[in-house]
Amino acid sequence: MKHKILVTREVFDETLEFLSGHFEVDANQADRLYSSDELAAKLQGKRGVQTQSSDRIDAQLLEKCPGLRAVCNTAVGYNNIDIGACTRHGVMVTNTPGVLTDSVADYSIGMIIATCRRMTEGEAYLRKGEWKGTFLKQMLGQDVHGATLGIFGFGRIGQAIARRARGFDMKILYHSRTRAALNDETEAGAAYTGKDELLRQADIVLLILPFTPETQHFISARELALMKPSAVLINMARGGIVDDAALIDALKKKTIWAAGLDVYENEPKVNPGFLQLHNVVLSPHIASASEPTRKAMAMTAAKNLVAALSGKTPPNLLNPDYKNFLQA
Ligand code: NAP
Ligand code: 8YV
Repeated sequence: MKHKILVTREVFDETLEFLSGHFEVDANQADRLYSSDELAAKLQGKRGVQTQSSDRIDAQLLEKCPGLRAVCNTAVGYNNIDIGACTRHGVMVTNTPGVLTDSVADYSIGMIIATCRRMTEGEAYLRKGEWKGTFLKQMLGQDVHGATLGIFGFGRIGQAIARRARGFDMKILYHSRTRAALNDETEAGAAYTGKDELLRQADIVLLILPFTPETQHFISARELALMKPSAVLINMARGGIVDDAALIDALKKKTIWAAGLDVYENEPKVNPGFLQLHNVVLSPHIASASEPTRKAMAMTAAKNLVAALSGKTPPNLLNPDYKNFLQA
């Protein structure tokens, strides 16, 4: 008999076909976000679930779903899942590392250029019919080539961004919880730097680290005050890592020059303060959203689910300790 599984949000047909070859699938191709109660109801009798980052899997939900054995997230970040609670309930958790690294790194370079060179502001100005001709001091920006890029979080994506930035002759500094291996630093041409020193030196500060209790408001008023008045902040990581109210204040007072954001505190709500500002580029959490990459993410999550429920160790298992909590 096939196990029953839930797919919480719309996925590609090929992913559903693959899953249907292994499981009895309850899919949500209408793509309506389930409330926590709806999710708990949908999970009754289900052995596994393929989630997305909009789904919250916490202790309260797990209490109501004793039959659940695997939660396979369609994202590399997993701050939407209480891993400790899953472990204590003997539930495996997986993510999708690697398959999105290059797409997110490409998009991050795009965000740097769009922000430094005021690309979205320029387009809005043209669309509004305000462009009357070209003049010397029009929409002056910051140069990307030759700038000092400071990267917080030097894992898969951070290093891929650094490798691309070398092509722009950028000087690259990084700060991370753990210092990278010397050959990774050399390949990326990046120098390890203390947090405050990076903030003082960088022309462009880019965030690409996980959202955890330790990284909540990692960039707040104190950190923004250390940045140069000409500096740009790019958040590709997660909402909550930046204190959005403090950032809006800094952008209004021009204590930093501009920001480029793909993620927000409490997204999909966006602090209305950002919408009033010209010196911020806003995008709706789409850094990984190329078609091939989103397909690869969905298939990676599905393959993790198949492995998890067929007695194998899923390739991207995040909590091997779950075994210690399995009921005899
Ligand atoms: P990764 O390979 O695990 O790299 C994360 C890096 O952040 C590691 O260097 C890690 O250091 C460091 N880090 C962790 N906690 C830290 C802390 N408290 N202070 C400083 N550095 C810390 O992950 P990745 O694949 O590069 O992805 C990074 C994050 O990007 C994800 O967690 C996700 O939230 C975000 N993301 C966003 C998008 C988007 O669409 N905007 C797409 C993909 C990913 P250690 O080596 O010590 O762990
Ligand atoms: C996801 C992301 O596409 O992988 C991550 O951590 O942030 C993105 O790639 C996003 O979470 C939507 O599910």
